[in-house]
Amino acid sequence: MSLRNLGNLLALVSIFLVTHVFGQTDFDWGSVAASDNLTWVECYSSTIQCSRLSAPMNYSNPSAGSFSLALIRIPSPLTGTASYRGPVLFNPGGPGGSGVEAILGFGAQISKAVGPEFDVLSFDPRGIANSTPVISFFKTDVERAAFDFGPHATDPTATPDVLPSQWAHYQALGRLAKDRDTAGVLAHVSTDNVARDMLRIVQAHGQTKLQYWGISYGSVLGATFATLFPDKVERLLIDGVLDMGGYFAPDFANEIIDADKVLQAFFDECHKAGPTACAFYANSSAAISHKLDTLYQKVLAQPVPAYSPSLPQYGFVDHPTLKNAILVSFYQPYSSFSALAQGLALLENGDGSALYQLSTPRVAEPVLAIVCGDAAKVTDDAATLKKYVKSIEKISSFSSIVAGVRLVCSGWRVNPDNFKGPVGGVTSFPLLLIGNTADPVTAIAGAKKTAKQFPGSVVLTQDGLGHTSFASPSACTIGHIQAYFQNGTLPAVNTVCPVTEPLFPLPSTNSTQTPRELHQEISLAEVTVELRNSYRRVARGGFF
Ligand SMILES: *[C@@H]1O[C@H](CO)[C@@H](O)[C@H](O)[C@H]1NC(C)=O
Ligand SMILES: *[C@@H]1O[C@H](CO)[C@@H](O)[C@H](O)[C@H]1NC(C)=O
Ligand SMILES: *[C@@H]1O[C@H](CO)[C@@H](O)[C@H](O)[C@H]1NC(C)=O
Ligand SMILES: *[C@@H]1O[C@H](CO)[C@@H](O)[C@H](O)[C@H]1NC(C)=O
Ligand SMILES: *[C@@H]1O[C@H](CO)[C@@H](O)[C@H](O)[C@H]1NC(C)=O
Repeated sequence: MSLRNLGNLLALVSIFLVTHVFGQTDFDWGSVAASDNLTWVECYSSTIQCSRLSAPMNYSNPSAGSFSLALIRIPSPLTGTASYRGPVLFNPGGPGGSGVEAILGFGAQISKAVGPEFDVLSFDPRGIANSTPVISFFKTDVERAAFDFGPHATDPTATPDVLPSQWAHYQALGRLAKDRDTAGVLAHVSTDNVARDMLRIVQAHGQTKLQYWGISYGSVLGATFATLFPDKVERLLIDGVLDMGGYFAPDFANEIIDADKVLQAFFDECHKAGPTACAFYANSSAAISHKLDTLYQKVLAQPVPAYSPSLPQYGFVDHPTLKNAILVSFYQPYSSFSALAQGLALLENGDGSALYQLSTPRVAEPVLAIVCGDAAKVTDDAATLKKYVKSIEKISSFSSIVAGVRLVCSGWRVNPDNFKGPVGGVTSFPLLLIGNTADPVTAIAGAKKTAKQFPGSVVLTQDGLGHTSFASPSACTIGHIQAYFQNGTLPAVNTVCPVTEPLFPLPSTNSTQTPRELHQEISLAEVTVELRNSYRRVARGGFF
């Protein structure tokens, strides 16, 4: 394995390490009192500030307790001058992604992208990470680890006839979650409440309207805000936009209609790149596809043992693990296709470890609580789920993975009467939506559909692969983002931004990133590369 490929692999593996490192933070959130106003203190580094804001658990019943939200910001260097423009709120998706972790990981790049007039502000949504109380059903990490959320447990086609026992597994989990929720937290972590929290943050900051940048699930949060508070939109950018109807159904089939385009690109570009750059090379695109089919058959007949030193954990690569690893690597093709090819080549030779490490669980407690709580209640029994899995089978070769969402929600028992769509409305400023031509988990059709619900909004297409525009550097895209935040300029309808990065860079390419001073003058092209690289290091499990 070349050093670069090893580097790629380690970068993906560091998903876990980053989470781990930030888990034992060097900042004590308990040292800041939660209050109704924003008092900022220096935290983590001299360029970053933190605060805790209280928010009512139930906005209709302020006496029903409160959340304490962890807020983090990179202040504008122009604070106090006439040029200062207030905060841009950022949400990294998930659902359940930590805004604190996002700002620590790539806040400096977000700041450079929007410009020095703005603070960049994010927050751990209610129930998440450093906000309290936190969503947690399990009493110990051992109990959590014993409850399988891996591909075998969440892919209804993992093995023939596994679905009924998976269904039972999530019925049990739904009961457990409800029984343990004695403080009644779960009914209040819905997306509409997070949108209300955003308005509260903005107002505590002394502004009247929201400036927002949300990616992936952050698009659901942004669209929900725009629906509930259409006259409070100053700027609203959503990138990696979900099919909103599908999110609230829940039926994620429409999200992955482009996943096979990414698969085809893997075959085509691997063939074009040649055997030096692509370890899974064969002499035609069809031959590479055939090799993959053979590999699927091989692990179906007999899974391959594996060991992940970073977890550390022993396991094996079976059919659902392989499928999941491939889809996970499609999130960031420009930095993971080489590693995927390497992993497939090793698997062919009986070594499953690299592939095993690429496959990350997608379901976790916050995902369940937020996705299943936001969506219409799922009452499907095992037979109904089986029909559903069958009905979306033709949509994509990865459809069984997203079918897992309906499966896990089938046991969910906390179903508050919260906002469940449809999104839409006439907003006080038009929305900017961004979609990649081939995004594996938020197909651009979602952006186009959502734009229709918000008159005047514009979809910018980034002509690349991967999940959200962060997957590939494009100075063109960041230029439009900056013009939108700074000048309120929307791209012309049908604007397409090119991506020029190779999918299989030659092993000699050195993509090591040089650390930059915050607010240092650098080109948009440099910002985009840094954003891609630092986002990759922080990206985590979860669907969006
Ligand atoms: C913020 O709130 C705290 C208590 O909630 C109060 O003591 C403090 O004076 C407030 N600060 C400002 C600037 O309003
Ligand atoms: C929030 O409070 C209102 C008014 O008391 C109540 O009707 C509603 O059920 C509460 N929502 C939740 C999720 O508990
Ligand atoms: C590809 O390789 C196979 C043997 O490995 C050979 O039979 C076939 O002709 C080759 N095809 C091309 C297009 O080179
Ligand atoms: C915003 O508009 C000003 C004046 O027209 C222009 O100089 C500047 O380049 C624009 N900024 C962006 C980011 O497009
Ligand atoms: C890659 O770049 C870094 C930083 O510029 C340098 O330290 C390193 O030696 C380079 N590696 C290779 C293989 O060129």
